[in-house]
Amino acid sequence: MDDAERALAEAERVLRQNWREGEAAGVPYAYTEPSPGRYPWQWYWDSCFAAIVNRRFEGDRARAELESLLAAQRPDGFIGHTIFWGRRVSGFRRAFYNVATRTARQTESIQPPLLAWAWRIAVGDPAAEARIGAQADWLLANRDLEGDGLLWIVQPDESGLDASPKFEPVWGRRANARPGFPLLVRRNHRLGFSARRVRERGGPVLCETLVNTLWSLSLRALGQPSATPALVERLWDERRGAFVDWAEPGQVRPEALTWDALAPLALPDLPEEIGRRLVEEHLLNEEEFLTPVAPPSVSASEPSYEPGGSRGPIRRYWRGPTWVNSAWLVWLGLRRLGYEEAATRLADGVIGAVEREGLREYYDPRTGAGLGARDFAWSALVAELAEPDPAATRSHL
Ligand code: GLC
Repeated sequence: MDDAERALAEAERVLRQNWREGEAAGVPYAYTEPSPGRYPWQWYWDSCFAAIVNRRFEGDRARAELESLLAAQRPDGFIGHTIFWGRRVSGFRRAFYNVATRTARQTESIQPPLLAWAWRIAVGDPAAEARIGAQADWLLANRDLEGDGLLWIVQPDESGLDASPKFEPVWGRRANARPGFPLLVRRNHRLGFSARRVRERGGPVLCETLVNTLWSLSLRALGQPSATPALVERLWDERRGAFVDWAEPGQVRPEALTWDALAPLALPDLPEEIGRRLVEEHLLNEEEFLTPVAPPSVSASEPSYEPGGSRGPIRRYWRGPTWVNSAWLVWLGLRRLGYEEAATRLADGVIGAVEREGLREYYDPRTGAGLGARDFAWSALVAELAEPDPAATRSHL
């Protein structure tokens, strides 16, 4: 076996091992635990990534996993960030989890909405499943605060990039993993997690790049007008050659350069000259994102770059190490734009790290040392790098 075959085998092993099925209050569920023990519940975007890879090994499970998200959907179309199948959110976690009540079945917060895109890749036409369209309608009705088709979030963790340094100018001491975070959760709870109410009460609310990149991919998958032109219009910063979030009130544009500034590379309809700037000025820049295992979640040029993972009792995610979902999303852009050699180098870096360390939650970008949780499901996306699926690459990726 070569490295690529071993990475594929490891992806399959972990997805099989982390598979859970059951029934809660009469509703059957089935999903991939992100990491056994550490993350027991169903996380929305983790499930989308797991389903994308599982189409290779267990097509029925890919569908069942996404259908479990739909089984948790509220009548108004909303689907939460985390679904607490089986066991409820426990003890001290309630201060950090965005739940309405102690017995809630899911959070009141969202995660990047890539369900329609994942469905397109793993199952079929999302427009044929009315509940997927209903989630998109909920998002437009509740999170498109300015009517241009872009979504706004009310907490850092709604982006999936919990403690990224880019959130500090926006939420300050109330950002994830900072001491005031439970206060942010409490305040948003009081406001019913309504982005409109949060904004009316002085915010902050954030138009965030990764959420809107995955949202645009989902709209395209649904056959609806793409959000990419609006994303470029609002978040593309011509001077920096990167995408920069936008917070209100006060039009705050966070300065820290983080990998998600390059995430729109995954968009097939991203204007080519923008894609080339992202690649040539940042992704292939050794001072920023071109590390042996790339791309680091924070540019190596940032003072906040912590490539070895954060130290101390509180886990602070997305502050330097490389995550496999990020590598895959920017790799899609490298392939599309014809940077074949760079795409191969990036894939080889990740495949090598997985080969040596197994599926870890994230990796040291300098050495590939495995960090964070073990047997981490979405790192199975290494399969997409190890054995690119030509059909998927052509039609929806
Ligand atoms: C961490 C990550 C988040 C992920 C969750 C479960 O909170 O930041 O993106 O969904 O773990 O894996």
